[in-house]
Amino acid sequence: MKPLLEDAARRAAEYLASLPERRVAPPPEAVRRLSALDVPLQQEPLDPHRVLAELDELVTPATMAMAGPRFFGFVIGGSLPAALAANWLAGAWDQNAGMYAVTPGVAHLEQVVIRWLNDLFGLPAGTTGALVTGATMANFTSLAAARHAVLKRAGWNVEADGLFGAPPVTVIVGEEVHITVLKALGMLGLGRNRVVRVPADEQGRMRAGKLPRIEGPTIVCVQAGNVNSGSFDPIADVCERAHEGRAWVHVDGAFGLWAKASPRYAPLVHGMEQADSWSMDAHKWLNVPYDCGIALVRDTEALAAAMAIQAAYIPTAQAERNPFDYTPEFSRRARGVEVWAALRSLGRRGLAALIERNCVAAQRFAERLGAAGCEILNDVALNQVLVSFGEPKETERVIAAVQADGTCWVGGTVWQGRTAMRISVCSWATTEADVDASVAAMLRARDQVAGGANR
Ligand SMILES: Cc1ncc(COP(=O)(O)O)c(C=O)c1O
Repeated sequence: MKPLLEDAARRAAEYLASLPERRVAPPPEAVRRLSALDVPLQQEPLDPHRVLAELDELVTPATMAMAGPRFFGFVIGGSLPAALAANWLAGAWDQNAGMYAVTPGVAHLEQVVIRWLNDLFGLPAGTTGALVTGATMANFTSLAAARHAVLKRAGWNVEADGLFGAPPVTVIVGEEVHITVLKALGMLGLGRNRVVRVPADEQGRMRAGKLPRIEGPTIVCVQAGNVNSGSFDPIADVCERAHEGRAWVHVDGAFGLWAKASPRYAPLVHGMEQADSWSMDAHKWLNVPYDCGIALVRDTEALAAAMAIQAAYIPTAQAERNPFDYTPEFSRRARGVEVWAALRSLGRRGLAALIERNCVAAQRFAERLGAAGCEILNDVALNQVLVSFGEPKETERVIAAVQADGTCWVGGTVWQGRTAMRISVCSWATTEADVDASVAAMLRARDQVAGGANR
């Protein structure tokens, strides 16, 4: 296999080296050439070298340069060198990371990672966790534990008996709740539309004073890092009020919770340790390769009650933790490997520096674009910037022109009724020069759109 893996390494290294210079979005002709993949599956085996070459020749040119320094769409990090290299090694190991007795190396790494994260986020020592595909599944996992705990207190075993005839569970969310929390609630039978919505302020923060009176089994979902503005719900205030009513508080902190790793930005998540569960992504701000999300849950028993299953053929409870007692999946890849490698390579100081560098880059975007007459719609408290170029159509045209230009990639959104360009800075690789080149491309696009309108 060695020559094949060396070939893969060479091709991957060439790809990564090309990213700072190539267009961020794939050129249309590369996307058109993908039709060459539309062949019937052949009868006979094919040489793996040829398979790899075909993949590289046809698919590499059609990739979006998300791993590069100037992709600012959605909320997407790159891959730290140590995390990517660890991912390759873990691919070679091919471990099914469910049971400690069977795959001790990677199961042990997960324990270490969860302990480090508890420490980093200042969470209670016994807090347990699950490494899942992303924040959507981390929300699902945490809310499954929440559902178990609040119904258990009401004398109901939801895993055994389902929700048929169960006491009703009230779920409270902020007006700006992320759609994936609603999706998770739907998957858990708690309903996407049954939620009680608490109004938000102009930055998208839940108004804690508007929380309804809490009675009976209740789950309150707060947000650390609004997907558009980057703002934070007042976690400490909400926890205080919610816990008076014995509610479970879940924090959806897909990217925002990482602010805690930086002394400068940690005040944004003040009081987070008072909550009951937390979800975050490693594939966003920790910069590990896709996919990896993390659920952390204070009440280990509640999470295990929601997730653990048993059968005669699998090793059950033992001194060491079996990861699959805490995750929705039974079989799963060893996501702890990249998280461990990223944290180990960065250290606390490196992680804080990564968060701070990206936030400073977001400020730089806002300052330069603002100085050039563009309207910045949010308080840039974190790594997210919302920009208006005037009328909705104009802003949409500028976004399209930026994407076509290829220097960088940004998406669009509607923020509190205003059409906006979204800039999200999450990559370890982004430099000041990348910000400046991207600002120049945005202003070129604006002038091009304005020039077209004047003609
Ligand atoms: C606040 C928030 N929650 C949840 C998610 C979903 O994360 P994932 O796509 O990793 O499932 C996102 C994605 O951007 C997010 O910003």
